[in-house]
Amino acid sequence: MTVAYSYLLFIVLGIFLFCYFIATRVWIKVDEKNKKLDPDKGSKNRRDFLYLSSITVGGVGVAAFMWPFLKSMNPAEDTLALGTTEVDLSNISIGQSITVKWRGRPVFIRRRTQEEITEANSVEVASLRDPMEDKDRVQQEEWLVMEGVCTHLGCVPLGQKMSDTKGEYNGWFCPCHGSHYDTSGRVRKGPAPDNLPIPPYKFISDTKIIIG
Ligand code: FES
Repeated sequence: MTVAYSYLLFIVLGIFLFCYFIATRVWIKVDEKNKKLDPDKGSKNRRDFLYLSSITVGGVGVAAFMWPFLKSMNPAEDTLALGTTEVDLSNISIGQSITVKWRGRPVFIRRRTQEEITEANSVEVASLRDPMEDKDRVQQEEWLVMEGVCTHLGCVPLGQKMSDTKGEYNGWFCPCHGSHYDTSGRVRKGPAPDNLPIPPYKFISDTKIIIG
């Protein structure tokens, strides 16, 4: 239990007890008045009030007791931070790729050339094994962000380094069993069943993204 939480708890309980005390005093006054007029009604009202107020006090106590346990069930801020990766794109030049880690997995970020973008858009989408338009795989056509994990058996495809072989479709090539991916990361040949997956990400500025 944090110090801040303890203070908050004391303040809330203090306010509640103060209100409870005032309400009791008011109720007793009203009850005394009723008792003079009708003795039976007065005692019934007092019983109802005590019953109701006991439940309320008990409810507040249970809520105050449960709060830290419920709160501890939410992921901590440092845990949430581990689930995201912020990437500065400003040093990546056209035609260059970098690999970053997100949740322990490699994520490929490529700043595509105009030729690569044109190539990705000139494909007959219906003919693809995992049909997907290039525009549905990117948020800005220059930037391709995708998980670098082959969808066959999970090898990391080649194509990130300038010197790497990029396969028959000028994108990425998985050397494990020979899957070829195009400049949009879509599977074009080999045993991989699906395109390279696109992770959740968003641009937080012109040159920065957050993955996750
Ligand atoms: S793991 Fe990539 S082709 Fe088999």
